[in-house]
Amino acid sequence: MNILEIQNCTICYQNGRPAVSDASLSVSEGEIVSIVGESGSGKTTLIRAILGLLPAGGRITGGNILFNGRDLVKMREQELQDIRGREIAMIFQDVGAALDPIEKIKRQYAEAIAVHEKQPKQTYFERAVGMLQKMHLTDPKRVMDAYPFELSGGMKQRVGIAMGMTAQPRLLLADEPTSALDVTIQAQVVHELKELRKKYGTTIILVTHNMGVASFLSDKIGVMCKSQLVEFGSRDEIIYHPKETYTRELLKAVPKLGGRRFAG
Ligand SMILES: Nc1ncnc2c1ncn2[C@@H]1O[C@H](COP(=O)(O)OP(=O)(O)OP(=O)(O)O)[C@@H](O)[C@H]1O
Ligand SMILES: [Mg+2]
Repeated sequence: MNILEIQNCTICYQNGRPAVSDASLSVSEGEIVSIVGESGSGKTTLIRAILGLLPAGGRITGGNILFNGRDLVKMREQELQDIRGREIAMIFQDVGAALDPIEKIKRQYAEAIAVHEKQPKQTYFERAVGMLQKMHLTDPKRVMDAYPFELSGGMKQRVGIAMGMTAQPRLLLADEPTSALDVTIQAQVVHELKELRKKYGTTIILVTHNMGVASFLSDKIGVMCKSQLVEFGSRDEIIYHPKETYTRELLKAVPKLGGRRFAG
């Protein structure tokens, strides 16, 4: 069974024009799916709608979003909150900026984990420190003891990503988790996402501007253009047999490395 099925979903903000129009896609358990497309095409809107976490004024005006066969669109806030806590986690586009400025990282980390599981404090602390280390944060214990204002933007971003991953949800939604980071750190984050899937079978939906990242990571790719999901298919279909002119344009923009555009 598909873990997630988005069926004919339309999402509008106050002005009433669809930011996402009639989008459909399906994701099997353990798959990595990337959503690519130009700025403003509706990528963030689409993945935030899954968890009912649209920015103010946004709402789903049509369609269904089935998670394990249950329609998230029809769920009451309380039911959604249970799922948000335990089964689906989200790394926001500006995750670093979303940290509470007046709470130490370890407090916020503990809260992020506590909604997912009841574990003795020490176990989570060790896992947290391990994940921060994997995100190339030197001295992770000091980071845990810091306030967000003591960390750089890139460090906060990495803390936010680590929090989302340590929670080990069944479905991880990640909105441009790497775009604000240095190239080497980006590569590490991408590597960690792949490890997460390998180790825990985590299903991942990733929004990215980077077609190279999408090609390296994904089983399936969705392409958005002007509020439409213009193309959705297997990684090979999209990379080697794109149907849409817009997808071909995106692919052409990816630089070739060693004479080949895509590894793998
Ligand atoms: N809070 C909001 N209120 C009103 N309109 C919004 C809001 N957030 C997004 N929009 C509009 O919805 C459309 C899709 O925006 P969205 O943020 O989903 O795009 P995106 O593909 O994630 O872009 P980017 O790559 O720049 O992050 C845009 O036209 C945008 O102006
Ligand atoms: Mg976005």
